[in-house]
Amino acid sequence: MSGHNVWTHKGTFLLAAVGSAVGLGNLWRFPYLTGENGGGAFILVYALTIFAVGIPILIAETMLGRTSRQSPIMGMRHLTKTHKTSRAWESIGWLGAASAFLILSFYSVIAGWALHYTWLMLTGSLVGADAQTISDGFNALLASPGLMTLYHTLFIAGSALIVGMGIHKGIESGLRIMMPALFVILIVVLIYGIINGDVGAAASFLFTFNLSDLSLEGWLQAMGQSFFTLSLGMGAIMAYGAYMSSEASLTRTAIAVAFVDTAVAMVAGLAIFSLVFGAGLETGQGPGLMFVTLPLAFAEMPFGALVGGVFFILVLGAAISSSISLIEPVAAFLVERFDMTRPQAVMIMVVAAWAMGLLTVVSFNVWAEGTIFHSLFGRSAFEFIELLTNIFMPLGGLMIALFAGWALTQSEVMKELGTNATWFKIWRFLVRFVGPAAVSFVFLRTIPQVEGYFIPALGSLIIVGAFAASQRLRHTKA
Ligand code: PHE
Repeated sequence: MSGHNVWTHKGTFLLAAVGSAVGLGNLWRFPYLTGENGGGAFILVYALTIFAVGIPILIAETMLGRTSRQSPIMGMRHLTKTHKTSRAWESIGWLGAASAFLILSFYSVIAGWALHYTWLMLTGSLVGADAQTISDGFNALLASPGLMTLYHTLFIAGSALIVGMGIHKGIESGLRIMMPALFVILIVVLIYGIINGDVGAAASFLFTFNLSDLSLEGWLQAMGQSFFTLSLGMGAIMAYGAYMSSEASLTRTAIAVAFVDTAVAMVAGLAIFSLVFGAGLETGQGPGLMFVTLPLAFAEMPFGALVGGVFFILVLGAAISSSISLIEPVAAFLVERFDMTRPQAVMIMVVAAWAMGLLTVVSFNVWAEGTIFHSLFGRSAFEFIELLTNIFMPLGGLMIALFAGWALTQSEVMKELGTNATWFKIWRFLVRFVGPAAVSFVFLRTIPQVEGYFIPALGSLIIVGAFAASQRLRHTKA
């Protein structure tokens, strides 16, 4: 607890949390999952979970970080002691570390694609290219494990460098410029889409809510995405909350983060689908959606190489500010728990996630089919890792909600939240009942239907195993 700095400026947490939340989740993952799941119904489930479940848990997770003022795992340990609750809650920290590691592994590979497109834009390679050329180019990237590994390596090394050097200072001023710039350029793309694409078709695709359109796994993906996009349930927000000023309002900040994050996703979705419908492209083409659609617009747009270059640089900035929040909680833990130096801790996390990321790289080429992942889980390694995060993040969020709503001493929680009694009761109702009920409902409905039904068993095993390991470590050290 001692020696933990608090960010000097009240607004810094907001900025850091927005930096963590806004990223590939909004620009790449949200449009592609929406497209694969048929549009509106997916968005409805996603939006409902953001507002009824995501925001209350965002408040809870920030609060856990701010009261403990430590990294997630050590912070959880501290809270179980001061509030005299079961040590088992500590598994929230472990589960979070597992999720962060899994997400970072594929996040860096996808960010690598953005690096590739930054290069293509700035060199003007795609100026005037047609849809066929652009989609062939993307497929050529996917077909090259070497090239993808190179970009993956560059991106993760860049993130590691920033976290290893102790972050914040430079990032803060960078974010102040890059986040608004990203939003402005998205609006430019949207306007281009409105003029040259089919915004009417996009709007009716995105905002026609017919729940029967959504497959069961679509429910799980929509809920998983709402946690993913808010960076919830894995310690990133808790780690940042540890530096949050005690004066800042938890509720107002959380609502602002969710609002900005949703706005970016919606503008990105509207822009991308206007272009998709305008050019007669496939909505359900999967992870390549953004990387095929937007370069096509930049290829035709006046000053497209420049606009596209700046756009992809900003995408990279948004991705880096998210990836550092994936590294931070695990690195901070290794430092606090094992007395490692910061660079050592970052190195361990990043090298492990880098190696794991190779599974995602090969999922798009040499291991695209016929692997053990396909026979066991009916999907590629990348899709399996995504499925695991769709389960782990809501599970972590569920445990955070239960911990904050039931296990902690409520008078202290109310003091920390700093709201009046009515708001406190509303929040507590949401984390005690609504959040847990919603997450359980989706899990119970969907998980038994998912191919490879022993995934939940595997998940629980990992949690229990990690917890047991933590107990052992504790004994051997003491
Ligand atoms: N929220 C980030 C995004 O949307 C991804 C992320 C998830 C970052 C979890 C940190 C923790 O891109």
